[in-house]
Amino acid sequence: MAKEFKIAPSILSADFARLGEEVESVIAAGADFVHFDVMDNHYVPNLTFGSVICKSLRDFGIEAPIDVHLMVQPVDRLIADFAEAGATYISFHPEASEDIGATLDLIRSNDCLPGLAINPATPLSYVEEYLDQIEIITMMSVNPGFAGQSFIPEVLDKLTETRAMIEKSGRKVLLEIDGGVKANNIGDIASYGADVFVSGSGIFGTDNYRDTIDEMRQNLAPHLNQ
Ligand code: DX5
Ligand code: ZN
Repeated sequence: MAKEFKIAPSILSADFARLGEEVESVIAAGADFVHFDVMDNHYVPNLTFGSVICKSLRDFGIEAPIDVHLMVQPVDRLIADFAEAGATYISFHPEASEDIGATLDLIRSNDCLPGLAINPATPLSYVEEYLDQIEIITMMSVNPGFAGQSFIPEVLDKLTETRAMIEKSGRKVLLEIDGGVKANNIGDIASYGADVFVSGSGIFGTDNYRDTIDEMRQNLAPHLNQ
């Protein structure tokens, strides 16, 4: 069966002074999701933005799915805020939650789609245990905290293993790769089983978003029927 690939620009690398326009331009250029990196200077050593900015994007007219990646601890208190602000997916790092099942339930009961974000050093046992309760897996290919880091190739085998778990489950869980994804490595990454591609500096750091996203789609095309 033909696959569908989604491109999710991370707004972490956008020009924040013109955020609405930046997001509008990447969507117009062919992006599918808005990847929204929330950092708290506690779970990760960096500080970004909260639910108010998510709501501003919705108020500005952004209709694309917003894929909220919470790099925060504790997790639960922020969920209702993001749901109200218009989040579509909400993913968190299992190590940051006191009760992973309860956090996943909380996301779902707030009408959002739950996901788990897995660091390069985090075992896949979390995915195995909670696979039937999640809609997206954010496989980190850098250590979370900063845009513009290099892709960690050791994560490719985790992608293959996770893809096999998803196929075995028979559920349509999205497998997102996050960190160091660019037009020149996206095709290779797709061949290991990812179907959602986060790219921050790889898109916002380029001059022409449409050319970059077109090039990404061209490099993905050979893997559509794999
Ligand atoms: C890292 C974030 C990523 C990152 C992606 O903590 O979760 O989403 O911003 O940025 P690039 O594509 O520049 O690695
Ligand atoms: Zn992210």
